Amino acid sequence: MKVILTKTYEEGAQKGAEIILAALKNKPDLLLGLATGETPLGIYKRLIEAYKAGEADFSRARTVNLDEYVGCREEDSYRKFMFDNLFDHINLAHDSITIAGHKADPGAEVSRLRGFFERNTVDLQLLGIGPNGHIGFNEPGEALEALVHVTPLAEATVQANARWFADGAVPTQAITMGMGDILRARSILIMIKGESKRGVLRELLHKTTVTTQNPATFLHLHPDVTLIAEESLT
Ligand code: F6R
Repeated sequence: MKVILTKTYEEGAQKGAEIILAALKNKPDLLLGLATGETPLGIYKRLIEAYKAGEADFSRARTVNLDEYVGCREEDSYRKFMFDNLFDHINLAHDSITIAGHKADPGAEVSRLRGFFERNTVDLQLLGIGPNGHIGFNEPGEALEALVHVTPLAEATVQANARWFADGAVPTQAITMGMGDILRARSILIMIKGESKRGVLRELLHKTTVTTQNPATFLHLHPDVTLIAEESLT
């Protein structure tokens, strides 16, 4: 695992954006795996800036999102988050975007997305991490699922996500890429932001054991992972 420690979140977001932009330059039809939440926002801001400055062309790129809430309101969906924070501001073709439908039948969505991952390999997968070590919404437990699946969200995740929902109606189920789908990406970029992630970050940095109780430790099995975090969290 290649580790990049930065003084500030902003510096880390800049480095993360540079890695994505370099991959896009190298492969204009890049299939980019995307995450939502607070962590990637600084990266998305810089991707938009690069596009507006004429330094990035997303016209041939494709994206697939890690996860989506099941049965949530449109305004709470990760789809809307992605359009608001990235897709509406770059020249990515809308038919090049893959994300689970928040209103669609979950079983049908699981089949559709499993088919997508049978036919496509993610070139670069961007990840955040939950305070409990989840990646995508692969929550800690006795076993982890390899393929796209519907999952209940862990109580800790529901609590961590509550900050996004003023009315307290936090979704409790999601469709997520499985651990195998994530680990089949050609390369992985994980960014870790926030005090609540200190414990899982330390476990990643100081141990090489793999445990289903901290799903992010499975990244130790992947040959090309870059981890970005603030130095002060280590
Ligand atoms: C979201 C996702 C989650 C988040 C994680 C951290 O698409 O896959 O694993 O990356 O919950 O969220 P933030 O960045 O909001 O702390």
